[in-house]
Amino acid sequence: MSITVTVNGVKQACNAPADMPLLWVLRDVLGLTGTKYGCGAGLCGACTLHVDGVAVRACVFPLSGAEGKTVTTIEGLSPDGTHPVQVAWKLEDVAQCGYCQPGQIMAAAALLAKNPKPTDDDIANALAGNLCRCGTYQRIRAAVNRAVTLRKAEKRA
Ligand code: FES
Ligand code: FES
Repeated sequence: MSITVTVNGVKQACNAPADMPLLWVLRDVLGLTGTKYGCGAGLCGACTLHVDGVAVRACVFPLSGAEGKTVTTIEGLSPDGTHPVQVAWKLEDVAQCGYCQPGQIMAAAALLAKNPKPTDDDIANALAGNLCRCGTYQRIRAAVNRAVTLRKAEKRA
């Protein structure tokens, strides 16, 4: 039996067990490898993506939970890589090894979607569960603040 999920704007019939973690469905069934595997236990945030706009940990989120919902991965955040968070990430040169970055970006994008003017505490809280082995935390915070400014400029234009 297949489960239908809309992934990055495309309706997908997924032939996979209902309890399979969404992360495996994306990577192994649909071939979308932008979402990363870190701990597999909901602890590191590497696998963060959006389900109906809310940041979730795909490694502990069952396929059945996404049935009929909209899933957005790093590949679908913007058609051309110009989401303000992505632009800010490039301007601040955030990534080091890059492994945690799709999860960091998706967590930041979900935060800004619901809170366009986050305080430093809001940013720290929203990203507290996203670990970075390379220690890019300062640049991540700078980039989220830069994304806030870019979004404001976009709205004025
Ligand atoms: S891989 Fe999902 S939280 Fe670590
Ligand atoms: S950039 Fe290397 S783990 Fe975060």
